[in-house]
Amino acid sequence: MADHDPWWRNAVIYQIYPRSFADSDGDGVGDIDGIRAHLQHLRGLGVDAIWMSPWYPSPMADAGYDVADFRDIDPVFGDLAAAEALITEAHAVNIRMIVDIVPNHISSAHPWFQAALASPDAPEREYFWFRAGRGDRMPTEWVGEFGGTTWTQAPDGQWYLHLFTPEQPDLNWEHPDVRAEFESILRFWFDRGVDGIRIDSAALLLKDGTLPEVIDGEPHPFHDLDGVHDVYRAWRRVADSYPDRALIGEVWMPDVSRFAKYLRPDELHAAFNFDFLGCAWEPRLMRECIDRTLAAHETIGAPATWVLSNHDVTRHVTRYGRAKTTFSFEENLDGTPVDLELGTRRARAAALLSLSLPGATYIYQGEELGLWENENIPADAFVDPMWQRRGHSRDGCRVPLPWSGDEPPFGFSTGTPWLPQPAEWKDRTVQAQSGDPSSMLELYRAAIHLRRTEEGLHRSTMAWLDAAPGVLAYTRGSAFACVLNMSGIPVPLPDHHSCLLASGPLDGTLLPPDAAVWLRLHPGK
Ligand code: NOJ
Repeated sequence: MADHDPWWRNAVIYQIYPRSFADSDGDGVGDIDGIRAHLQHLRGLGVDAIWMSPWYPSPMADAGYDVADFRDIDPVFGDLAAAEALITEAHAVNIRMIVDIVPNHISSAHPWFQAALASPDAPEREYFWFRAGRGDRMPTEWVGEFGGTTWTQAPDGQWYLHLFTPEQPDLNWEHPDVRAEFESILRFWFDRGVDGIRIDSAALLLKDGTLPEVIDGEPHPFHDLDGVHDVYRAWRRVADSYPDRALIGEVWMPDVSRFAKYLRPDELHAAFNFDFLGCAWEPRLMRECIDRTLAAHETIGAPATWVLSNHDVTRHVTRYGRAKTTFSFEENLDGTPVDLELGTRRARAAALLSLSLPGATYIYQGEELGLWENENIPADAFVDPMWQRRGHSRDGCRVPLPWSGDEPPFGFSTGTPWLPQPAEWKDRTVQAQSGDPSSMLELYRAAIHLRRTEEGLHRSTMAWLDAAPGVLAYTRGSAFACVLNMSGIPVPLPDHHSCLLASGPLDGTLLPPDAAVWLRLHPGK
């Protein structure tokens, strides 16, 4: 990385979903001591930072995205001392720590909400969206982010708003106490050495208090209201009062110009690229997505991010092995035919793409092992609240990691993992893949290592090379190129000095379909 660039502009950031990373105490749920015991894996992979999905005390109505106390750790994961030890130990091996803050809502078990429920006159009611109904009807017909209704009636007859589950009441961001509380929470974690904050549902915080219905063509009552930017300007001032801290937003936004507003110089440092994540495995669309991404970020000087998977979406080995390779919550493709061999080949090529584009790259735990979606979890084992509301469960991408051995629980736990692991993962364990040059894990290790040493990958720009139809080829600097063949037929490589890394074997001198290579170019060309 160029010395003058702040870390968050080029980092490789690894998402840990703590329930499913490694279990140290045999209860079948991953925990902080499990992460501490496996830090070596992340060090060997070469990542720059860890993003930790929520680890706070929570009734787990939404797997921890229902937070009851932002200043402590849920006992299932450990305690604050273990969290502090992890931060110290990660820093000792040059890995930064990012924690997940969920400002749109809190748990219904949080003391604020309990006080608010206790009496219609409680001042804490003002921290939420309590409203009278319209006769017997709820205050609006808004549809929640998981589907279903967004209001639940309190015992005294008033209704409260929840864009997600009833156990996740929305906070009222017009209230100064709410703003002050979250700024204090940011300081709490920054004071503990945390390097960054991932902001959950970042565009939803403000609501139109006149409660209009959602009408096509009219301003949306709770998506992306302009006032949200004041919140992030204030957060940026908090972050800037510490050295080298970063704010990273979860901003799902089809309109790139609106998306870019979150990344203005006095707001967030970065935001996840869901456009890229949801993009089809199709050369024209992929190229347009890359161009759109880079153009939007360039206007405001923010770094692009490249994300293939996370804990909310179908794993990309599965997505890329289907006839329809896009991802959207609106279209349920669960159970449609999958060619995992094809999906794996494409995922390998996608790794070389996402790790060589300018900006920061995110890796979701297990992606480096080539894990696929577990589509064989029995419905009665689902815990994801989205399952009841949308008929799609995110549990299939949240299955505990396979570390070693020939059968479940594959070294994840000495007990029974909270979700079942496919028996076929015996070939995908860290142990089975380590030292096998053809494995996904060794591909990720080699690519991340080269990304560190390769001068061209530290520069901020890329330039497209002329290429055959269906082929994406670009340079980074004067000596590095990446070529990705999405054309369906083998293609010749551009003139080059040597091949640095390939996602799969070449076909003589040709690059096979669904493969990518990193090339050293001749000096001076
Ligand atoms: C986005 C998170 O990534 C997801 O897992 C969660 O269910 C919702 N926000 C609500 O917090």
